[in-house]
Amino acid sequence: MSSLISARNITKRFGNFTAVDGISFDVEKGQVVGFLGPNGAGKTTTIKMIYTAFPPDEGELRVFDMDTRTHQRAIKERLGVVIQSDIVEETGTCLENLRLYATYFGVPWHKTRDTAIKLLKTFDLADWAHRSIRSLSGGMKRRISIAKGLISNPELLLLDEPTIGLDPQARQFMWEVVRQIQDEGRTILLTTHYMDEAERLCDFIFVVDHGNIISQGTPSELIAKHLLPNVIEIESEIANLPQLKKLGERQDIQLVMRPHRSTVFAKDGEAMMRQLYSELGTGVEMRLRPANLEDVFLHLTGRDIRNE
Ligand SMILES: Nc1ncnc2c1ncn2[C@@H]1O[C@H](COP(=O)(O)OP(=O)(O)OP(=O)(O)O)[C@@H](O)[C@H]1O
Ligand SMILES: [Mg+2]
Repeated sequence: MSSLISARNITKRFGNFTAVDGISFDVEKGQVVGFLGPNGAGKTTTIKMIYTAFPPDEGELRVFDMDTRTHQRAIKERLGVVIQSDIVEETGTCLENLRLYATYFGVPWHKTRDTAIKLLKTFDLADWAHRSIRSLSGGMKRRISIAKGLISNPELLLLDEPTIGLDPQARQFMWEVVRQIQDEGRTILLTTHYMDEAERLCDFIFVVDHGNIISQGTPSELIAKHLLPNVIEIESEIANLPQLKKLGERQDIQLVMRPHRSTVFAKDGEAMMRQLYSELGTGVEMRLRPANLEDVFLHLTGRDIRNE
């Protein structure tokens, strides 16, 4: 069977600026797929092309095996979108809001109630059905936005930064909701610049930067592809730098030196840690942890995803 989304060398320019630079990717049915990248990487622009807001300048983008250039309407009917900034109408109750939204998709008013109530339950907002939207917290409003994205019962849900600005508890709730939506057999494409989120949630990740896909794979594949599995973080004093630098010549480790915190990637973390203590002295602070996607991004781009 062909992919739910299939992009071949798609490019999008704004004037002279290339926001999406000839990327190709596939999204398979039933997966949670993540576009992970820093601000300005081209994530939202890609999402917009998928929901046919504008076509790619070059290349071919097919959704549900239809061309996004010619089948906008048919594609839009089968997908749900939650755009980056929350636009939740501030008037009325939660229930009214969702019912009204359902009518935009041609559902007759008397049939909207069941759909809206079911969605409020999914999002743990049933008790808030008759409360005004205005009284909701930011996290709750986000849940209403996503509920709206599901109102047309879409096969594919596009979530642009679903957890940005949410507190840890609200983010975790959102992750559960995403899994629940996946369990219903839907496909989800989400964007995020939270590494931990991508790692926990996504079956497959495209790491994007400056309009390019710079790597792709399952979270564990991405780590295994680029890095040794164990990381030792070293609070490195200037005095330790020469010894560290020497260590960097070894072929069996990867070393990233930074002014205050250096990282050593090794196959056997415990053994490496012992060796580092013997070379740098026991007074140096070190922490052993598994390699993660944050390390992958840093490794690929030389910078943190959050502070470019
Ligand atoms: N309508 C537009 N006109 C001009 N430039 C644009 C337009 N939309 C996006 N861009 C530029 O294209 C680049 C990619 O933008 P995009 O919104 O796709 O990034 P993003 O990965 O979603 O970033 P963020 O994490 O901040 O949401 C940015 O440099 C942005 O300034
Ligand atoms: Mg964006």
